[in-house]
Amino acid sequence: MLDLAITKIHDEQRQGESFAPFKSDPNTYQKQFYIESYGCAMNFADSEVVAAILNKEGFGATRNMEEADLIFINTCSIREKAEQTVRKRLTDFKKLKAEKPGMLVGVLGCMAERLKSKFLEEEKLVDIVVGPDAYRSLPRLVDEASSGQKTVNVLLSREETYADIAPVRLNSNGVSAFVSIMRGCNNMCSFCVVPFTRGRERSRDAVSIIAECTDLFEKGYREVTLLGQNVDSYHYIPENGTEQDAVSFANLLEKVALISPDLRVRFSTSHPKDITDDVLHTMAAYENICKCIHLPVQSGSTRVLQLMNRTYTREWYKGKVDRIRELLPGCSITADIIAGFCSEEETDHQETLSIMEYSRYDLSYMFFYSERPGTLAQRRYKDDVPLEVKKRRLQEVIETQNRLSLENYTKDIGQTYKVLIDGDSKRSAEDWVGRTSQNKVVIFPKAAGAAHKKGDYVSVAINDCTQATLFGSIVQ
Ligand code: 5AD
Ligand code: SF4
Repeated sequence: MLDLAITKIHDEQRQGESFAPFKSDPNTYQKQFYIESYGCAMNFADSEVVAAILNKEGFGATRNMEEADLIFINTCSIREKAEQTVRKRLTDFKKLKAEKPGMLVGVLGCMAERLKSKFLEEEKLVDIVVGPDAYRSLPRLVDEASSGQKTVNVLLSREETYADIAPVRLNSNGVSAFVSIMRGCNNMCSFCVVPFTRGRERSRDAVSIIAECTDLFEKGYREVTLLGQNVDSYHYIPENGTEQDAVSFANLLEKVALISPDLRVRFSTSHPKDITDDVLHTMAAYENICKCIHLPVQSGSTRVLQLMNRTYTREWYKGKVDRIRELLPGCSITADIIAGFCSEEETDHQETLSIMEYSRYDLSYMFFYSERPGTLAQRRYKDDVPLEVKKRRLQEVIETQNRLSLENYTKDIGQTYKVLIDGDSKRSAEDWVGRTSQNKVVIFPKAAGAAHKKGDYVSVAINDCTQATLFGSIVQ
């Protein structure tokens, strides 16, 4: 099982985790559901909303799919590979279903809309198909499916934010939680299928976000990650309010930071065009707002960025990095990068490598371009970079990032950081694993005789590193 605490997770990193916080109490729940999630953190947060809805209907979570009455797979469409993995899982479930009549299989999330008829009719793989805005209809759909009908609801909404549903934390370490603050995306990056699968952007009621974060803190959580496809365009006007009452992302960050100085606040993802000085100043003003910004660059070439419809240039992005360095010294910057987008030349690729050097990312999520049906790029441009070239360029991007990470991490040796303890290290129960404000993972021995526990903050002096992990020891 991989670390649930990381802020942004892609299908390559965290595929198909199944969730069950508890072995369901048979007195509480007569029936069991099993859920596997793929893709980004948003999807994992959605599975927690689904769990809340199903609990209310009398279904308890199980880790063991063989004993489930309902199997759900929360899907991702962002790259072709993610879709292939899901299809393979569905054939596994089909076999299980043949052995267990009455068991229902449902597809949730981003693949629902595009592939509903294929799943339901052509391949007869599933009984229920539900899009990301239709989870409230799950009880009705499950009911109908139990009587033998194939059921589907993939309607996207302009309003749905599930604001009133308290997510059931699945597989949580009890220290960090995701909190969804908005849904959908209006940006229309030409490579991206998200605006089609998750619909228009809408912001969740700020009061419900603060209530959820406060409740998490009271239950012992010490870190929340505010999630959205584009958090910096968060904009919430209370009912019957006017533009003057609007809550911006900077306002929201501040409100969450004020819950307690012991509650760390993170957020993801920022579009470089939308992150404002207000947000950077708010980050600077509150120690508990973590100094880490995920700032996807996608490409270092202005020409390619234009084709991607990213609406910034190479120089503009570099200016944003400069501004972060100026207002938030020591802030970690991370990125998403796509190699081999339509028409990308060797010179464009070199510009991607050089902007990585300029930005000195601590970490990047790196992909080669995968054409997605219905996107602007699929309709307008030719996917003309040969696969071997895409893969070779991606390899060069990865090697550059590995070197930068190691250089950056090496600079931390000799420094002392405030670390939030996530739990036992996977390698040894003698060691803790935690993270710095910059979201760097730190492993360090438990201090003999000290009563530290997960969720505590400790000062750790760093004495060694790899390109992805710091090592150190607790200092008083
Ligand atoms: N091909 C490759 N990578 C993609 N991403 C989004 N769409 C595609 C695609 N069609 C990447 C982007 C985005 C991240 C979530 O996934 O880098 O920021
Ligand atoms: Fe996709 Fe761009 Fe929206 Fe991110 S900002 S979800 S890459 S359209």
